[in-house]
Amino acid sequence: MKLLALLLTVHLAFHPTDQAPQTRRQPAEPMDARAAAWLVRPEREEEEKPEQTLDALKILPGDVVADVGAGVGYFSLRLARRVGEKGKVFAVDIQQAMLDKLRENRDRERLDNIELVLGTETDPKLTPNSLDLALLVDVYHEFSHPAEMMEGIRAALKPAGRLVLVEYRGEDPAVPIKPLHKMTERQVLEEIVPMGFRHLETLSFLPRQHIIVFAKQLH
Ligand SMILES: C[S@@+](CC[C@H](N)C(=O)[O-])C[C@H]1O[C@@H](n2cnc3c(N)ncnc32)[C@H](O)[C@@H]1O
Repeated sequence: MKLLALLLTVHLAFHPTDQAPQTRRQPAEPMDARAAAWLVRPEREEEEKPEQTLDALKILPGDVVADVGAGVGYFSLRLARRVGEKGKVFAVDIQQAMLDKLRENRDRERLDNIELVLGTETDPKLTPNSLDLALLVDVYHEFSHPAEMMEGIRAALKPAGRLVLVEYRGEDPAVPIKPLHKMTERQVLEEIVPMGFRHLETLSFLPRQHIIVFAKQLH
């Protein structure tokens, strides 16, 4: 009987049904593409230290990575320079208007190794077993269907692939961001680990965000 209950719990964690609650947290509305200029504000370099963030993740030339919730490509462009011409960046977003701006930025910089992917709220449209890294910067809290999205992202990771969430620190009232757009480390771990990931480390050097790194949990 106990074994049956355990099997059911594991099954529901990895195959959520429509009845299963997504999370107890209310998701934030996806950021409107008309506000996209905020994503490339000059202060962002100081506030979010994108190059230091990517240095810490030790991305290698030739890596295949996904920037899920890529917006206009603030991280996709930087990732593309790092993985080089032998690597690949899949820039996923659900808003075509964001991807249109990303395309302009990509073409201007001649970064041919970025492929644009129009995902849906339940499917990142990534190929199974293809990624060394999935990066989600300021996006997980916007997922309306986190269980389905994370199932797709988990399937897309190679066995040794890593998942990285960057979220504004919910623990810190001094971070000047609306509460729905922040997450505590505990919230992230409580949601992500049951979805089939193992917590590797949390990096805390950014002024406003934590960088939370996971491995794919193998069965
Ligand atoms: C706050 S913006 C961050 C953009 C980018 N990561 C950055 O750091 O500049 C969040 C983006 O996630 C996208 N998004 C929200 N839900 C999504 C989903 N289920 N799949 C893919 N993208 C999503 C939104 O359309 C928006 O472009």
